[in-house]
Amino acid sequence: MEFKHEPIMLMQCMEYLNIKPDGIYVDGTIGGAGHSSEIVKRLSEKGLLIGIDRDKEALAASQKRLANYSNVKYVWGRHEDLKSHLESLGISKMDGVLLDLGVSSYQIDEPSRGFSYTKNSSLDMRMNKEQVLTAKDVVNSYSVEELERIFKEYGEEKFSKRIAGKIVESRKTKAIETTYELADIIRSAVYQNPIDSFKRVFQAIRIEVNGELKELEQAIRDSIEMLNGGGRICIITFHSLEDRIVKNTFVDLEGRCTCPKDFPKCVCGYKSYGKIITKKPLVASEDEQEKNPRSKSAKLRVFEKRG
Ligand SMILES: C[S@@+](CC[C@H](N)C(=O)[O-])C[C@H]1O[C@@H](n2cnc3c(N)ncnc32)[C@H](O)[C@@H]1O
Repeated sequence: MEFKHEPIMLMQCMEYLNIKPDGIYVDGTIGGAGHSSEIVKRLSEKGLLIGIDRDKEALAASQKRLANYSNVKYVWGRHEDLKSHLESLGISKMDGVLLDLGVSSYQIDEPSRGFSYTKNSSLDMRMNKEQVLTAKDVVNSYSVEELERIFKEYGEEKFSKRIAGKIVESRKTKAIETTYELADIIRSAVYQNPIDSFKRVFQAIRIEVNGELKELEQAIRDSIEMLNGGGRICIITFHSLEDRIVKNTFVDLEGRCTCPKDFPKCVCGYKSYGKIITKKPLVASEDEQEKNPRSKSAKLRVFEKRG
């Protein structure tokens, strides 16, 4: 299947990344290089783009798309390990980083990847196909309490307890192997139209399989530490759990004086690593939302490192 993914909020990202032609930029989630193909256009031959993805199929697609550019380096790995990736390339500082979190349209639409309840396939959901843990393992080996917690925490699913119970009951007779089998179990557990529950439960399992929220805060802190003064980090999120982590980490890194208002000078010693550029998250235009429904839930937040 061809690698298809429409980059979200592309021009806003380019505007807010504020690209310097000779700078070093990191696309921590390069996917099909939709954003990267615009970043690289804005770089001179002295500039450098580093594209990271944990999915080898995405890296191959981006390499093909950017074949005409020699100033791009590709890294197979997690953006959470940015520090060590840059270290192994002999780089200590960068001028900007983009994180477009979550999965690509290609990953969702490709049936063999097992991300979608709309396509029947083996329950997989790994972004990195060499990882051991799959969705099948989660569904068939986690305890009822663990499943309930995941559905509640990562999916904000109100029928979490019933769905977890039905899964555990069903797997007593036969292991749950496919996306359609899981969808049938969810359907049997909810009292209403099951589509929203399918979405929430599949999202929750995907987050668990890929450890999507575990190190996000530290990854943001590491990225900002490695930015040059004036450099920016742009992060696109697709659900409230990720967005909350980004928002709170930015607020914490911006810092705030906690001295009483009538103190003549600051004595609390707060540290600020920079400033939040987007007081409110940016969202896709109406036009983009209409053309690309996946952009509807996107939120873009930007932070600038102190000069
Ligand atoms: C939304 S897509 C990015 C699409 C890309 N911006 C484009 O325009 O083509 C997210 C990509 O990031 C990758 N990804 C998600 N989490 C990652 C992580 N923690 N480390 C590295 N890659 C990750 C996924 O495999 C996927 O290819």
